[in-house]
Amino acid sequence: MTKGLLIALEGVDGSGTTSQRERVANALREQGRTVHTTAEPSTGPIGKLLREILSGEMKTSPETVALLFAADRLDHLKREIVPALEQGQIVLTDRYIHSSVAYQSLAMDKDWVISLNREAKLPDLAILVKVSVEVAAQRRQERGGPEELFDAIEAQRKIASAYDLAFEQENLGPTATIDGEANMETVTQSILDIINKRLEA
Ligand code: TYD
Repeated sequence: MTKGLLIALEGVDGSGTTSQRERVANALREQGRTVHTTAEPSTGPIGKLLREILSGEMKTSPETVALLFAADRLDHLKREIVPALEQGQIVLTDRYIHSSVAYQSLAMDKDWVISLNREAKLPDLAILVKVSVEVAAQRRQERGGPEELFDAIEAQRKIASAYDLAFEQENLGPTATIDGEANMETVTQSILDIINKRLEA
């Protein structure tokens, strides 16, 4: 039995989930909660391989990428997420199953992608931080760094729609959507309010 809570922050590249994850984690810690922050691709062996594929250093098929993300998730759960949940921690992950459903269903059948993730624990809550593709592109540009596999604006537009479809899916656990274009503090507070409501339930 797991005692903690698994919460995923989701959104297109540049939606701000990484910064928000830290801000929300700190706010929860101030409330006296123990929080473990993490991300996918994970820091494990399959996550490392995925980073090489995302950067273009290594090439493979979309099917293989979908399988690797699903494998990385099971590895991430076993190595990191489940032990933290068993200690009663709140695990706040930057991306989880909904990312696979949104990104990998661009090239592959959505139900096949979902079936690959059947053995993965569902999140207790997945939060979509919604920003327009234009704002996300501007933020990615300001952040700098190399272009990755899914960074092109047209791909991002498709990913944004695929995210909407993923969040309409009823078999992937409870979800919430927030406006990610508000200022940093407002977005943090919106995420915090949703999590606190879940914690009180
Ligand atoms: P990202 O959060 O952008 O990492 P970083 O900011 O360090 O580059 O995630 C990397 C990419 O991986 C991103 O484009 C989304 C993609 N991705 C998938 O395609 N499927 C998945 O299941 C996950 C977790 C991520």
